[in-house]
Amino acid sequence: MDLIYRPRLAQILEVKELTEREKLFTLRLEGGEVLGHQPGQFVEVSVFGVGECPISICSSPTRGPEFQMCVRAVGNVTNALHRLRPGDYVGIRGPYGRGFPLQESKGQDLLIAAGGLGIAPLRSFIHYIMDNRSDYGEVTILYGAREPKEILFKDEISLMQGIGRCLLTVDRGDETWEGHVGVITTLCPMVTVDPSRTIAITVGPPIMYRFILQEFFKMGIPEERIYVDLERHMKCGVGKCGHCQINGFYVCREGPVFKYSEIKDLPEAI
Ligand SMILES: Cc1cc2nc3c(=O)[nH]c(=O)nc-3n(C[C@H](O)[C@H](O)[C@H](O)COP(=O)(O)OP(=O)(O)OC[C@H]3O[C@@H](n4cnc5c(N)ncnc54)[C@H](O)[C@@H]3O)c2cc1C
Ligand code: FES
Repeated sequence: MDLIYRPRLAQILEVKELTEREKLFTLRLEGGEVLGHQPGQFVEVSVFGVGECPISICSSPTRGPEFQMCVRAVGNVTNALHRLRPGDYVGIRGPYGRGFPLQESKGQDLLIAAGGLGIAPLRSFIHYIMDNRSDYGEVTILYGAREPKEILFKDEISLMQGIGRCLLTVDRGDETWEGHVGVITTLCPMVTVDPSRTIAITVGPPIMYRFILQEFFKMGIPEERIYVDLERHMKCGVGKCGHCQINGFYVCREGPVFKYSEIKDLPEAI
C-alpha cells in the first residue's frame, strides 16, 4: 500500500520567537529517528485538524536527530503552528525535493545570496559548511532584509562571519541601524570572486532573482554554476498533484533547488 501521505509524528521541543512574524521550532521525530535530510530539502508539516504546508528545514543534518524550521505566520497552517507550544505534536512527511549542490560545491568557493526568509533554507547549508569547513573554499554570504527588525538569526551573524565574509544590508534603516542600507544587489560591488571556481546560490523572494542573477552574470559566473531555489504553491510534495508544476517540471520533486541553466528557458520559472 502507498504510504507516502502518512505523516510521522514529531514533538516540538522548543519554540523561539525570532521576529514579529517568524518563529524557530526545534523538533524531534517520535522515537528519536533521524529525519535524514539534505540542506535545501523541505518537509510537509501538518497541524492536526488544520492542514499541511511545505516548510524548509533550516538546521543542518550534521547536528543530530533534532531538526529546526523557521516559520513565518501568513495563513491558516502557519498561524496554527505559531500557536503550538513545546510538548505539542505535528505531523511530518518528507524530507522531500532536491537540495543544494553539496557534492558539486566541494573544493569550490561559494557565493550565497539570501533575501528575507530565504536565509532559512540557506542556514541549513551554512551550518553544514561550518561543520565541514575544510571541504569548501572561500565563502561569501550576502543577506538582505527589509528592515533591521526583520533580520533573522541575528545572533548567528558573527558565527557566519567566522566561516568567511558575511555582508548584511537592509532596504530601510532605522535609528538603531548603523550598517549598510540598500537592496541586496548593492552589496555586490563589495565582492570579488574567481568566477571559474565559484558556485553561486540564491534564495529569496521572486522579485530578487532577476536582479541578483544579473549581478552574478556581471561577475562572470557561468549559468551552470548558479543555483536558484524556486518555491511554488505545493500540496502533495511528491510529484502527484501537479500544483507545483512549471512547464514540464515538478518543483517539489525535481527542485526546489535548480541550476539556473536548467530553468532559464522556462518562461514561468523566474
Ligand atoms: C519548498 C517550500 C519551502 C518553504 N519553506 C518555508 C519556510 O522555511 N518557512 C516559511 O515560513 N514558509 C515556507 N514556505 C512557504 C509556506 O509553505 C507557505 O507560507 C504556507 O504554505 C502557507 O500556508 P498557510 O496555510 O499558513 O497559508 P494559506 O492560508 O494557505 O495562505 C496565506 C497566504 O500565503 C500565500 N501562500 C500560500 N502558500 C504559499 C507558497 N507556497 N508560496 C507563497 N505564498 C503562499 C497564499 O496565497 C495566501 O496569500 C515554503 C514553501 C515551499 C513551497
Ligand atoms: S506539490 Fe504535488 S506535484 Fe508537486
